[in-house]
Amino acid sequence: MIHSAIVPVAGLGTRLLPATKSQPKEMLPVARKPIVQYVVEELAAAGIERILFVTGRGKSSIENHFDHDPELNRSLTQADKKALLDEIEFEKLQVHYFYTRQRLQLGLGDAVRCGENFAGPEPFLVALGDSIIGLNGHSTISRRLGEVYEQDGASCVIAVEEVPRELTSLYGVVAPASKGNVFQIADLVEKPAPEQAPSNLAIAGRYVFSPSIFEKLRKVKPDHRGEIQLTDAIRLLAASGERIIGVKLARGERRYDIGNFPSYFETFLEFALADPDYGARLRQHLKRLVR
Ligand code: UTP
Repeated sequence: MIHSAIVPVAGLGTRLLPATKSQPKEMLPVARKPIVQYVVEELAAAGIERILFVTGRGKSSIENHFDHDPELNRSLTQADKKALLDEIEFEKLQVHYFYTRQRLQLGLGDAVRCGENFAGPEPFLVALGDSIIGLNGHSTISRRLGEVYEQDGASCVIAVEEVPRELTSLYGVVAPASKGNVFQIADLVEKPAPEQAPSNLAIAGRYVFSPSIFEKLRKVKPDHRGEIQLTDAIRLLAASGERIIGVKLARGERRYDIGNFPSYFETFLEFALADPDYGARLRQHLKRLVR
């Protein structure tokens, strides 16, 4: 069982400016909840007990969100607002939160490297703080990655999603070395043009690693933007003969990456339409708007 997860949330989120000028993109709401809450709830459901947020400047609202708020609790209890108290039940998740800062935004690989002491000698999960898996975050992918890691003895297990061929240049794409829903990965390519892409299987924001990834992260050279890419460290693992396994997301288990406006708008709309109280009303409103 994997007990620890690193959740990188230190990125600048420039593609969502001005919304992200003074608030973290991971705290933007999707329907009722901030994005990162869906991520944390998925991890808690997968049995994760310790979460390290790799944060940066201007990200303190994430810390506040997962902290207990006695004043708010008291006020809602006194006013007998049971339904609203239910909305902050997530404060009681059985998870210990840790925080560290990535001082310079030197890429996702560098953010993961900030978790080396936290992870210690144990395997750990990495879940991107700006990616929700499954409608309303209802996904078992993190648990499945952990199970495959334990059964297979691989160094790294990666969630992948089938994407339309013409969109491969937006993603890290894997080169499979075997078939099936759980398969071996020979190599990875960052943002390939469709004609150069080795498959249409895109890395989906969830990974399990053995601590050997840290040694590779130290060897990775910064890319043309000066960033240390996690994908490059995984390629080094593969090149040194270590087993890398891919696990496909199940049908209906889409990855919602909210890092750009088109995807954020679509995700918000889809989750809001699925809202048990307000979805039907929104659907009617949309019909009127597009008529
Ligand atoms: P992105 O690749 O979307 O980068 O990060 P970004 O910097 O946040 O966004 P843009 O490109 O400026 O719009 C994917 C995840 O990795 C984290 C982000 O917070 C996000 O959850 N990340 C990225 C870090 O923690 N540190 C980094 O240096 C970069």
